[in-house]
Amino acid sequence: MRIDILTLFPGMFRGPFDESIIKRAAERALLEIHIHNIRDYSQDKHHVVDDYPYGGGAGMVLKPEPVYEALQAVKRVGCSSGQAAAPPPVVLLTPQGERFSQSMAQELALHPWLILLCGHYEGVDERIRERLVTHEVSIGDYVLTGGELPAMVVVEAVARLLPGVMGSPASVEEESFAGGLLEYPQYTRPAEFQGWQVPEVLLSGHHGEVQRWRRQQALLRTARRRPDLYAQAEVTPQERAWVQSHLEGTGS
Ligand code: 6GU
Repeated sequence: MRIDILTLFPGMFRGPFDESIIKRAAERALLEIHIHNIRDYSQDKHHVVDDYPYGGGAGMVLKPEPVYEALQAVKRVGCSSGQAAAPPPVVLLTPQGERFSQSMAQELALHPWLILLCGHYEGVDERIRERLVTHEVSIGDYVLTGGELPAMVVVEAVARLLPGVMGSPASVEEESFAGGLLEYPQYTRPAEFQGWQVPEVLLSGHHGEVQRWRRQQALLRTARRRPDLYAQAEVTPQERAWVQSHLEGTGS
């Protein structure tokens, strides 16, 4: 997959993308990330990228010209480097966007090429949003100063879904949200630490019992912490009854 990121702060991406999973994916040619500074596309001699909003009001608006020029340049390069087939999604990171989710990450991971546009100031000129942006994404209901951290979140969530990026596909499938439930608790050695015990069932070596316990724990956890997810999850009537009878208990 190729990902082009348009930003006013390219330096912000250096650390995170030079580490860990993104770095390994890039080294193995599974992922190619290109960072572009929108300011480089300003035709203005002072490289101005923002201006006052028409109609007045607080804050500044990202001017259309540099964003337009940056998008055209990136599309030209991407097309000539063999990404041609379908036009890439142009994803604007903005607090006005649709809330990012695992299913959105899965959808984006199907494309061979993505363009991420990091919003800033009070936003981008509406004509860019209307004419050139195909997806608008927010990472949650809180305010950030720009779309850079959200873009990193999207890249990370998408990259780890690409074939070959994660060690074992099983762990991708089992994890939280893929099955609509939170994950069960995990333990490792030692069996006793500071007098704190690992649940007996996990030491039993009885695979069926372990599976049952994990399923119950995942159900209880989801019901307690995320009733919204629990309401949507695939749960049998027997399981629902079991959860109901255990919900009043303590623990998580
Ligand atoms: Cl995508 N951008 C900004 N500026 N703030 C946010 C966000 C995005 N998602 C949550 N808060």
